[in-house]
Amino acid sequence: MSETKLEAWLDETRTFVPSAAFVAQANADASIYPEAAADPVAWWGRQARERLTWDVVPSQNLEWNSPQATWFADGTLNASVNCVDRHVAGGLGSRVAFHWVGDIDGEAVSITYEDLLARVSRAANALVELGVVAGDRVAIYMPMIPEAVVAMLACARLGAAHSVVFGGFAAEALADRIVDADCHFVITADGGFRRGVATPLKPAVDEALLSCPNVRKVLVVRRTGEKVSWDPQRDVWWHDIVERQSSTHQPESFPAEQVLYVMYTSGTTARPKGILHTTGGYLTQAATTHYYVFDVKPDRDVCWTSADIGWVTGHSYIVYGPLTNGVTQILFEGTPDSGGRDRWWRIIEQYGVTILYTAPTAIRTLMKWGEDIPANFDLSSLRLLGSVGEPINPEAWMWYREHVGGNACPVVDTWWQTETGGIMITPLPGVTATKPGAAMRPFPGISIDVVDGDGISVGNGEGGYLTVTAPWPGMTRGIYGDPERFAETYWTRFPGSYFAGDGAKRDLDGDLWLLGRVDDVMNISGHRLSTTEVEHALVGHPAVAEAAVVGASDETTGQAIVAFVTLKLSHLGDEADQAALVHELRAHVASVISPIARPRQIILTPELPKTRSGKIMRRLLRDVAEQRALGDVTTLTDPTVVAMIDRLMAAHSGDDA
Ligand code: PRX
Repeated sequence: MSETKLEAWLDETRTFVPSAAFVAQANADASIYPEAAADPVAWWGRQARERLTWDVVPSQNLEWNSPQATWFADGTLNASVNCVDRHVAGGLGSRVAFHWVGDIDGEAVSITYEDLLARVSRAANALVELGVVAGDRVAIYMPMIPEAVVAMLACARLGAAHSVVFGGFAAEALADRIVDADCHFVITADGGFRRGVATPLKPAVDEALLSCPNVRKVLVVRRTGEKVSWDPQRDVWWHDIVERQSSTHQPESFPAEQVLYVMYTSGTTARPKGILHTTGGYLTQAATTHYYVFDVKPDRDVCWTSADIGWVTGHSYIVYGPLTNGVTQILFEGTPDSGGRDRWWRIIEQYGVTILYTAPTAIRTLMKWGEDIPANFDLSSLRLLGSVGEPINPEAWMWYREHVGGNACPVVDTWWQTETGGIMITPLPGVTATKPGAAMRPFPGISIDVVDGDGISVGNGEGGYLTVTAPWPGMTRGIYGDPERFAETYWTRFPGSYFAGDGAKRDLDGDLWLLGRVDDVMNISGHRLSTTEVEHALVGHPAVAEAAVVGASDETTGQAIVAFVTLKLSHLGDEADQAALVHELRAHVASVISPIARPRQIILTPELPKTRSGKIMRRLLRDVAEQRALGDVTTLTDPTVVAMIDRLMAAHSGDDA
């Protein structure tokens, strides 16, 4: 949201206070904030001991040697036992862990905690047979099917780190991630379904592995039944090896700081970062935030987090948080319009979903389709709504509240990142008031500040940079294989504090509003992409001499990619050639990175605006892409370049949409 729009909104901000009925049954009450603030480290320590089952209960809480933290370091536990075994042992084996709902209408299966334990045990036994040992990294590249969760938990059970790569990434992006984390094993599927159409995954794995010599075994789930090519030395069908295993597996106990997973995310350079998470602190934050932010009642609630497990939201709020808390969930393979634009509402009605957690992009899409669609369904089971991934505009927030929540559900806008592991800023339902578009307050035990360029806290009514001023249990332990980049990226801008890369504002009541990224990271439909990553893909095309990429605001996707490209002289061609080339370049980016990264618009220009020191002025290009008044152009080598690009942009607006 633009500053002016925000100002206008703040003037007329509505505040929703919790209803008496919600307060009466809420997991948290107002005492939670002062209790946690009195001694945040001890408070997290109590959460860790209360919410998790430890084999050796930790005697320590935090060891802080900035920027390196360890939490509960002398404790030992097994993440998979915390997510599954202990619920079965506690008599909850017949509770449904997942109602899996397929992309294709009518395909569904409900998996109890007892079933899940048997499936995870079999998969763990199979991984042992394939040679996986504690400390290994295993890449998981799968559609949203139960085996994806089973694979993650089986790795965790063995003390092997998983690195889940979103199934929408292309072969090259997959290969980069496999090589960077030095994965020796890959778990995948022949393909998945998307709006009823079989979409292959195995061919991308085959192509990726041409440049991953260290991968020894590939475990393949048969999902679509489409023909795949096969390397008998390397490839193993899931149904051949997993199904014949014993359904019991004796888990080992691992130190709290055992690496649980690596998750790649975009930074400001072309190379994605492998964000490391360990076990004890991460699980503590995932479970605690899930319990309080979603006010979960494990014996009654049906939670639905609509994210893909290939992103951190899926890790923390489909797998580790909810399963640690022993709740029932929906696991949906499809898109909001798989099987019709009413699919989500049908699922909510059929399964009695009580808690829905999704992204503003999805809300805006559903909004575009019209409120008369949800109005046809009984959504009265819903009692809480959550949002994550990008700033939520007040209009979308209000629509969500009115047309999905029937004006009766608290809406929690939750800010966090891959690096933070769990939710950091959020209202607490039943305790905190909510305002449309605001993430409101730091979660108990989390210390946040908004500072100016010199690191000085801003006052109420002012904006600045979002920082975290004290360590927290779910914080990343670093970037895989690159400790210096970790310190440099997050801890040097404001010494002693973690710099998130986001702008934020405190309103006059001191409540927090997120304003989007302040660096070269774009947020497309809640997906993080760096401008340089897309530029890299563009200049990898033989026709491209130079490229500059910016994120421009977009009504549905939050931001959309606009690329400015100069061609090599040998590829200039005529207008028809250029139109074909633009088309080809957009497809090229999609095939190198992912369809998510496909530019909305590509503008071919003979020149890019550069400073005298040769730096491309992206700020000006952003102004052009958003049709704003241009900023200062005096430092440019040739100030007329921007006006020229502006004209080109106007002439081609709408070309590629
Ligand atoms: O810019 C912020 C935005 O998403 C970034 C983190 O992206 P990722 O690591 O992929 O994790 C997404 C899911 C947690 C942040 O730096 N972001 C996330 N949640 C919000 C948000 N921006 C505004 N409001 C939010 N609630």
